[in-house]
Amino acid sequence: MGKANRRDFLKRLAATGAALGLAPWSIESMLQASASTSASASPGLGASGKATMLSTWNHGIEANAAGFLALQQGGTAMDMVEAGARIVESDATGLSVGIGGLPDRDGHVTLDACCMDHTGNAGSVCFVQGLPHPLSLARKVMEDTPHVMLAGAGAEQYGQELGMTRRDLLTETSRRAWEEWRKTSNYEPVINIENHDTIGILALDDSGRLSGGCTTSGLAYKMHGRVGDSPILGAGLFVDPQVGGATATGLGEAVMKTVGSFLVVELMRNGETPQQACEEAVHRIMEGMPTDDLQVGYLALSHDGNFGGHAIHEGFNFARTTRQGGSMIDASHG
Ligand code: GLY
Repeated sequence: MGKANRRDFLKRLAATGAALGLAPWSIESMLQASASTSASASPGLGASGKATMLSTWNHGIEANAAGFLALQQGGTAMDMVEAGARIVESDATGLSVGIGGLPDRDGHVTLDACCMDHTGNAGSVCFVQGLPHPLSLARKVMEDTPHVMLAGAGAEQYGQELGMTRRDLLTETSRRAWEEWRKTSNYEPVINIENHDTIGILALDDSGRLSGGCTTSGLAYKMHGRVGDSPILGAGLFVDPQVGGATATGLGEAVMKTVGSFLVVELMRNGETPQQACEEAVHRIMEGMPTDDLQVGYLALSHDGNFGGHAIHEGFNFARTTRQGGSMIDASHG
């Protein structure tokens, strides 16, 4: 991590800690966990324990660091997931999650998220505008309402009732990218392997509680109103606390048609390892539709801490952090 990035990372960690209401904490150990981008683990998280966190893509390493910070402050697996999501949602330089996420073809940033906790409880929000932390809102739906999913204006109204602050999610960078896209796009969303991704997070705490979350601005330049897999339980995320959890990244339409994350967990229930289950779910997509121009990747974590990741194409990576440290792992593909 370069000096400037390290400084930004510290600032975002501090904001996450404050947002979580955490007491001051030691960030050095978190930085050691987040500094490694090689396959080798870095030391620094101290105590023993089975806590494990998996998060999609490069931004996963700081998500995991924030998650372990929450754990260090006495948080549960669900707190780890929310802390990880919030730090990535707050990062205005990320073009696919929260603030700075690329807009739809009309220039509106619309966010989707869901979560599941160690009891199998679930919450979800979709088509949310103006609120930067949809995963926190999904958690509130899960914990404080009799419902599972709120959409659009209703979700935003609930967020405002909770005191969540509205803000413009379009940044100068994302606005410029959208304006550039409009010059050549013929006003149709482009679906390829580059312009969509998300953060999916799976966390196991030291007590063996398993939780997951998924948050995204969705497919760049999508039609207004389009909702992807990320807020759809069973598609973008599924957690069965007795078995394991899975999350998806990539083109949501392909994941939704195959109910991918539920499939991965069911395969694990039937005896497959997390790696085998991710591979089979990817192959299900590849057998069912042309995949030259679309990417999907799955991550899976079993209740006992085994993990796997697999994608259609090369390029999908994920962060894995344990108490021994953090590392980036290139997923297998094909
Ligand atoms: N996987 C994110 C989306 O397609 O919206």
